[in-house]
Amino acid sequence: MSRIDHCCIIELPRVTDPRGCLTFIEANRHIPFKIRRVYYLYDVPGGAERGGHAHKALHQFIVAMSGSFDVVLDDGIQKKRFHLNRSYYGLYICPMIWRELDNFSSGAVCMVLASEFYDESDYLRDYNAYLATLGLK
Ligand code: TYD
Repeated sequence: MSRIDHCCIIELPRVTDPRGCLTFIEANRHIPFKIRRVYYLYDVPGGAERGGHAHKALHQFIVAMSGSFDVVLDDGIQKKRFHLNRSYYGLYICPMIWRELDNFSSGAVCMVLASEFYDESDYLRDYNAYLATLGLK
């Protein structure tokens, strides 16, 4: 089993009634980690790309709260592209996965739940260094 196979789309609970829909996310129940940080990308210009790095220890869960975008995951062996366009599911990303986000629709909001506080030393921002850390180069 390749590392990338630990990353998956997780469908979230949905409470729907005539007044609209409600979705909730509980740490360690719907997603496999405790949430320490939430951040979001918005006002992303057409054609922009985000990401372009891996995290050594961070677990993340990405939800398209509005609009749509693609997340491309790469574990140095396999690549997978996920299209996110609903706020009732998201993509779980385990540590040591290279990710790129692109194809943002206008008005897209990308919410990220993260297992740790922001820590620049957790980032691998150079692809070759990432492969070397995995022992693939
Ligand atoms: P980065 O993680 O590189 O953005 P993305 O992966 O979405 O393209 O972060 C961009 C900048 O924002 C960088 O200077 C670090 C800063 N930042 C924080 O200060 N706190 C955070 O929680 C995050 C995610 C980023």
